[in-house]
Amino acid sequence: MYLSVSFTMSTPSLLILYGSQTGTAQDTAQRIGRQAQRRWLQVRVLPLDDYNVANLISESLVVFVCATTGQGDPPDNMKKFWRFLFRKSLPAGSLCQLDCAVLGLGDSSYPKFNFVAKKLHKRLVQLGASALVPVGLADDQHDLGQDAVIDPWLKAFWDKVCVLYPSLAGVTPLREYEPLPPKYVFHFLDTVKETTDGRMRIPEGSAVPSQSHPFPARLVSNRRVTDASHFQDVRHIEFDITGSNIEFAAGDVVMMRPCNAPEDVQQFCQLLKLDPNSQFTLSATDNTAVPASLPQPCTVRHLVESYLDIAAVPRRSFFELLSTFSTNNLEKEKLIEFSSAEGQDELHSYCNRPRRTALEVLADFPHTTAELKVDYLLDLFPEIQPRSFSIASSLKAHPHRLQILVAVVRYKTKLFKPRKGLSIWPVYVPLWVKKGSMKFPKEMDTPVIMVGPGTGVAPFRSALQERIAEGKADNVLFFGCRSEFKDFHFKTDWEEMRKAGQLALFCAFSRDQEDKVYVQHRVEEQSKLLWDLIANKGAYFYIAGNAKQMPASVCDALKAAFQQEGGLSVQEADQMLDAMEKTGRFQSETWS
Ligand code: 2AM
Repeated sequence: MYLSVSFTMSTPSLLILYGSQTGTAQDTAQRIGRQAQRRWLQVRVLPLDDYNVANLISESLVVFVCATTGQGDPPDNMKKFWRFLFRKSLPAGSLCQLDCAVLGLGDSSYPKFNFVAKKLHKRLVQLGASALVPVGLADDQHDLGQDAVIDPWLKAFWDKVCVLYPSLAGVTPLREYEPLPPKYVFHFLDTVKETTDGRMRIPEGSAVPSQSHPFPARLVSNRRVTDASHFQDVRHIEFDITGSNIEFAAGDVVMMRPCNAPEDVQQFCQLLKLDPNSQFTLSATDNTAVPASLPQPCTVRHLVESYLDIAAVPRRSFFELLSTFSTNNLEKEKLIEFSSAEGQDELHSYCNRPRRTALEVLADFPHTTAELKVDYLLDLFPEIQPRSFSIASSLKAHPHRLQILVAVVRYKTKLFKPRKGLSIWPVYVPLWVKKGSMKFPKEMDTPVIMVGPGTGVAPFRSALQERIAEGKADNVLFFGCRSEFKDFHFKTDWEEMRKAGQLALFCAFSRDQEDKVYVQHRVEEQSKLLWDLIANKGAYFYIAGNAKQMPASVCDALKAAFQQEGGLSVQEADQMLDAMEKTGRFQSETWS
């Protein structure tokens, strides 16, 4: 039996709202939710955009857990909330009844570190809310991980909550290693019903494919474009999207949700003694909705294959939860250690360094796994997160087709099941398209200058195909790779465009000669051309590619060009680039 938690009328109610891109903020929000349940609070944990923000004026205690993504942007599941909160029409004192706390999850190697949390905190206070604790700024770059900030922040938060609600201070929290009720209860069906499993449902009518209704696109080709002797396996992949209603422009991204490999699904079901063909429906134990991407009824196979992220390296909360089920002393002790603050180094060596998957962990703790109750599966395993890829083609050049350029990252890209090679690309891949942050000018005579080394060139191929189809001239591309003969992506495309007078191309092959030549060196060499296009013709300037030093070095080269050709001072060159960024004439999209 699960422990039943009952509440008295006077129990304070806590709302936890999160904005999460990769699932970390969601995991943290859920962890805070469990802490609240153990303290006998009524609690709701929701993505920000699933919450009716107009109700915020009647809430009394809210925790916000927000990641910062891209170039200081809010995650997708809080974009609606973000727009609403910054409306000028919101009166200054509208949140004066609210006690709040904001926890940010960020990465200090990016320039706008925790920008969303900082801005949110400021705005809430401006609207009259009282901040119980200073904004928490967790950092991925911290030696001890984000918990180094989160744990003390949470302690300060709970101390403050106890002061605010003295009735809580005297209450004994539920013991940490006792299970809480699950989020959902499974109801297994006696007879098997016909189910599409939600996999191949084509959105009806004119609906545009989305996360909850992706389009099953046919894989048309999957070709390695780097030389066999090159260290990196880069793939040019093409999908047929005929009949999908999908439209996209240069700079947009395609989203795909990877699936678990059949042998992993089989192993998982064996470990948990589940029949993959059995069917169930779900009901929520609180007032949350059943996940939209799970059909009702659903087979266990579909749940494990397409929903539960069993191939990811599990987070600390996984061990915390697992420990609550274990009745095997040895395993329980180990799990408790892994979920404690002191055990984080050891957890890192056990899990993160060797990139051990959740499935492999389950196999290491067989007694606990055998005891696992199916109802807890959705508490234990996060939903498989969609991956995003820059679109590398234009519908104007390739109607009904969508192409991407992907570097196969070993141990990272589960789409490819890297440990076993590329054989598991399915014939149909469920996908949908999202607006990208990069925007290209609509005016016919605005030039574009694009700097895209490596796979960073993908969105620029889309932009070039689109611009050329529309007859837009003044296209400049700086491309960089190691060798002209090994990883010169889309070489023939560029050559054709160049021959047709549609493209000025400058390449930096870093390893074809003794000294390293990078894109920033080519930018420096072209200072006259760049100054003319930017200062006299209103050109837009773009950078895309791996973070690290490249974007900063390209910016330095560009500012040097402003000084040399335009006679600007260091400060004036900085200001000019800042002004270009503010007006969207300088855009960069970098990733690590
Ligand atoms: P390298 O590997 O020879 O150092 C695409 O990955 C290209 O970007 C490669 O030619 C790579 O060169 C280059 N690159 C690596 N670091 C860079 C940097 N800091 N600035 C610009 N280009 C860089």
